[in-house]
Parts: sequence; C-alpha cells; structure tokens
Amino acid sequence: MSSLFTVILAAGQGKRMQSSLPKVLHTVGGWPLVRFPLEIAVKLKPDKAVLVVSKSHEAVREAVSECPLMKRKKLVLTVQAEQRGTGDALVCALKAIPGKKGTILLMNGDMPLILENSVRQLLQHHRESGAVMTLLSVRVNSSLPYGRVVRDTRGHIRAVIEERDCTEEQKRITELNCGVYAIDLEFARSAVKKIRPQNAQSEYYVTDLVKIAVDENRPVATSPVADVVEAMGVNSQRELWAVNRQFYLKQRERLWAEGVRSQGADILIDADVKIGAGTILLSPCYLHGQTHIGANVVLESGTVVRDCTIEDGAQILSFSYLEGAQVGKNCRVGPFAHLREGTELAVGAKIGNFVETKKARIGAGSKVNHLAYMGDITTGERVNVGAGTITCNYDGHEKFKTVLEDDVFIGSDTQLVAPVRIGRGAVIGAGTTVTRNVKPESLTLSRVRQMEIPGWAKKRRRKK
Ligand code: UD1
Ligand code: CA
Repeated sequence: MSSLFTVILAAGQGKRMQSSLPKVLHTVGGWPLVRFPLEIAVKLKPDKAVLVVSKSHEAVREAVSECPLMKRKKLVLTVQAEQRGTGDALVCALKAIPGKKGTILLMNGDMPLILENSVRQLLQHHRESGAVMTLLSVRVNSSLPYGRVVRDTRGHIRAVIEERDCTEEQKRITELNCGVYAIDLEFARSAVKKIRPQNAQSEYYVTDLVKIAVDENRPVATSPVADVVEAMGVNSQRELWAVNRQFYLKQRERLWAEGVRSQGADILIDADVKIGAGTILLSPCYLHGQTHIGANVVLESGTVVRDCTIEDGAQILSFSYLEGAQVGKNCRVGPFAHLREGTELAVGAKIGNFVETKKARIGAGSKVNHLAYMGDITTGERVNVGAGTITCNYDGHEKFKTVLEDDVFIGSDTQLVAPVRIGRGAVIGAGTTVTRNVKPESLTLSRVRQMEIPGWAKKRRRKK
C-alpha cells in the first residue's frame, strides 16, 4: 500500500461568518467543525496528517490537542501565513509531507457532514482509476453556490469553476465539487506551481489542479456522493444553523433506530451523548457534552443537560437545568430544578421544584422537595429536607461542608451554617438556624419565642 497523507484545510478566516472566532471552531453538535474531518483522518490511519492553520492558531491547536493522531505524533500543524486560497494552503501542507510517492487526501475543514464511507470510496476509486486527482462530487436538482464540475460533450471532466467565475451557462451545471480530493503526491508537487490567482477573488484555487491535469493529458476522476447533505459546507451563520439542523436530525434518526422515543422537533443531542433504549425525550430538550443517559429515562420539556450521567428509570421533569451531575436510578428531579457540578443523587433520591444543588451528595431515598439550596453537602439515606432549607456554605472567603446522617429530618426554613454535622435520626425544628453539630436522635430548635398581644390589631385599626 502506498503512503497516505491527510491534509485538512483550516486556515480560512471565514469572513462570511461575521465572527471573531476562527471558522473551524464554530460548533456542530457540540464539536468544533475541524474535529469532523479529523475523526475521519484518524480512522484512515494515515502515515501523516497535516492541519493547515492560520498565524493565530492557538485556539485551533488547543481544540485538536486531544486528537489521537496528535498523541501518536502523526498530526502536524502547518501555518499558512496569509490566506491566499485553498491552492496556497495545499502548497503549505506539501512542505510538511515527506517524499514523492503517495496519495494526499485533502479535505476542507468546514464540511462536517461528510461520511467516512464516502471518503473511503473516493480513495478506492482513486486507486482503481489510476487518476492523478479524484474529487468527490454531488449531483443536485437545482444548482447551489459551490464549484461547478465542468464536463465536455463526451462527459469527461474538464475543470472545476467557482460560482463567481462561472458563465451564466456554467451556473446551471448541477454537478458540484464537494471539497474533498484524492491527489497523487508527485502530481501535486509539480502542478501546484502552475496555479495562478486569475479569478474573481484573486486567490490560488486548489480546484485549478483539475484543469492543469487535463491540460497535461493526465486522468482526473470523480467519485459521487449520493446525498447533497453530506456536502454541506459552513461559510455563514445561516449555513451553520442549517448544518446543525441536519446533524441533529441525523442524531435523532440514529436514536430512533435504537429505541429512543422523542416527541416534538426541538431536540438537540450532541455528538458525544449516549442514550439508552426506552428513554423518552419531550421537546424542547437539549443534551450537551459528555452526557450519558440510561434506559427508560424521561426527560420532559425544557430540560437542558450538560456533562451528566442519568441512570435508568430516572425522571427529569420540565424546565430543569443539569450540569456536571450524576443522577442515580429512579431518581426524580424537577420541575424547575438546578443541579450543578458535583451533584450526585443516589438511587431513588428526589429533588423538587426550585431547588439548587452544588457539590451535593444526596443519599438513597432522600428528598429535597421544595425551594432549597444544597451546597457542599453530603446526606445519608432517607433524609428529608424541608421547604426553604439552605446550606450557608460560604463565608465570603471559603466554602464549608454540611453532613446530614441517615434518617435526619430537617424542618422547613432551616439554615445549616457550615461546617456542621447533624447526627443520625436527629430532628431539626422548622425555622432553626443550626450553628453547632447536633447529636443523633435529638431535637434541635432555635426559635424566637412566639409573642401574642391580645386585641392589639383591633386597637390599631380604630386609631386609623
Ligand atoms: C471550496 C471550493 C469549491 C467547493 C467548496 C465546497 C475552492 C477554490 N473552492 O469553496 O469548489 O465547492 O469548497 O465546500 O477550493 N482555507 C484555507 N486557506 C485559505 C483558504 C481557505 O485553509 O487560504 C480553508 C478554509 O478554512 C476552509 C476550506 O479551506 O476550511 C475551504 O475554503 P472556503 O473559502 O470555504 O472555500 P469555498 O469558497 O467554500
Ligand atoms: Ca467552504
């Protein structure tokens, strides 16, 4: 097998995005655009992978730092000092590629929906046809603003012409260039020298290699993709929206096939999210990051979940916001709950409406049902926390811990001034401010004694 070098173009500024963020860092399904072609590159096991980046590439470097190719020292970043076009970007990449023999797989960095299989077919086609260059192309019903694949009367490819450089007749061509190419390395080295920036944008176009090969009487081939969705590029905010929409549709399709039920249209499931069979998602529902959801879970309307684990049979009721939390089996959360990082709910725990938790480990079967703040707290099993209870965990400088042992009962409107520990089975009366540790099985009360003055109200009314 000859050497394979993957090249991903990620230096473009993405002017049309109207954003200070480098284009390839805009996200689709929670992944930066550049990650999609990189994942394909990983699967193809190239001899070397090259990522062409612009001068200000720190954020891009950071975004790809976890790529397995980077860890295996197979991925290099090459700087394209000035964005003079995709042809110039290839020139930069060639400097990082050793030797003369081999195949370059060149991918635009802004087309996240392309499938690995289509790229594999392109490479196979390229090998079998003996062409010096093979490009992925797609046929559409009515033309779109992509490079047009121009053929002669016998159907042989002659050139790829950008929309801006097309004649009116060429604009009607419905075969489009997707932006993924297999190129013979030796051909690339010699042919890039012939690219001239003679076009509407005065840029060096990698697509000019097609005409250069044709003029040299060297074979060029195309490999088709069936679905135009795969070829969708991201050049504007509108296209970013459209590509995300397609991505999330596909995610839902995949999950339907795995027995996940969803109702309504506004359901966003990011790339790394896993969901078990029998789980029900009610729109709108946004699942982000490293979120793993078990089987037979219910996520009601308006839930947002980021980087959480939710185990089998749990119910997340409407308008709950969960980030960095672990929800155990058969727990019930919400409606209107806010679980923050470090929340761990053991099996069957209940967190009710208007409750906020942070670094809170709530034991099995325990309940915090209404209007509470649980910060830096560990509770045992079967604990009941009354409405309006708050942990006073922060003195303005440091955070302190609260511990509630098994079977503790906290009356409503209690303040737990940390650090504090309530012993097993203790009861705290409603309205208590707990400032010291409490012994097991005791009752604690700190209440202002109730005062009653008979007839006082009536007297006041008369005065007025
Ligand atoms: C390109 C193709 C077009 C094709 C379309 C498919 C050319 C000339 N045209 O057009 O035929 O239909 O993709 O999506 O290639 N980049 C650099 N350095 C540069 C310029 C661009 O690294 O100097 C990168 C961009 O970051 C991007 C990719 O190359 O990832 C493609 O560039 P872009 O400007 O988006 O090309 P299109 O106009 O979309
Ligand atoms: Ca593009």
